Amino acid sequence: MEIKKVGIIGTGTMGLGVAQVIATAGIDVVAVKATPGSLDRARNTLVTGLAKLVERGKMDEGTKNSIVDRVTFSASEQDVAPCDLVIESVIEDITTKKALFQRLEQIVAKECILATNTSTLSVTEMMAVCTERVRVAGLHFFNPVPVMRLIEVIHAFETSSKTVTALMEFSRKVGKDPVLVQDTTGFIVNRLLTPYMLEAVRLLEHGTGTIDAIDHALMTGASMPMGPFSLADYIGLDVVLAMSNNIYQDVRQQYCSAPHTLIRLVQLGYLGRKTNKGFYDYSKKPAIPNPQLRHPVA
Ligand code: CAA
Repeated sequence: MEIKKVGIIGTGTMGLGVAQVIATAGIDVVAVKATPGSLDRARNTLVTGLAKLVERGKMDEGTKNSIVDRVTFSASEQDVAPCDLVIESVIEDITTKKALFQRLEQIVAKECILATNTSTLSVTEMMAVCTERVRVAGLHFFNPVPVMRLIEVIHAFETSSKTVTALMEFSRKVGKDPVLVQDTTGFIVNRLLTPYMLEAVRLLEHGTGTIDAIDHALMTGASMPMGPFSLADYIGLDVVLAMSNNIYQDVRQQYCSAPHTLIRLVQLGYLGRKTNKGFYDYSKKPAIPNPQLRHPVA
């Protein structure tokens, strides 16, 4: 089955990144804004990101324009009707996603694949509200989408092998390296990365090391591209907390529970890079560890 047109529901960081990658591979995209707001703003975010690549000599102007031309922005879910694949990338809320899948089934053709980009929610639970369950699967991208090579293709309970094969082929076509994963909470990457970030927060709380010492140690001692606190800020602390809660809900083990400091930061609205403050304070250039979290032993 050839995927020639892709619908993306949700134009946040992930949705736009996915749109960019797919359009770069020469495939038409319909990007639907899931919440009220300006379509121009979503389009401008895509254009600005690509313009930066042009500025740095990574892409020519013609390629940038052809990528932008391949993405049609829309405020209506109905516009994904002609798509062969629809990927949802809306808020991490199971009720919202289930309702969306039910609406999508009324819009698209019977053969259209319905995929979720969820980080830690159950694909099978989304599948359960659908009539044509065999075409439902997970297609999990990583941030920054244009850079990270992995896609986790999630095989949920009743996903057909035809759907899985089509998604594995599609992932390769858009330049990614897919792995096939069964539908378990957090799949592979988030199931391992989430407890890793949570444990780093516990080390901070225990006074084992400072934020920069722990980040520095993991970068230089374990070749991580970012330390756990930079990574958590990069992903968004609200997202990390939601991942922690979802995994804990399933696993019920202390190592998956959210540490106090993470919960407090989210309650205060310090969500990492997107709010300019999290474990680091990004209002300072270069960013400094958030002084509110300085541990006495530091
Ligand atoms: N769009 C396009 N290109 C980008 C980009 C973006 N948003 N961000 C970085 N790049 C490109 C740069 O152009 C650069 O390309 P070249 O090598 O061709 O010059 C390259 O990526 C490296 O970027 P930088 O030199 O600016 O920065 P860096 O070397 O510090 O790398 C990073 C930045 C790629 C983000 C790196 O730090 C990294 O890999 N961090 C870990 C990210 C990670 O673990 N992501 C997974 C998070 S978990 C997740 O996403 C799942 C979930 O469900 C929440």
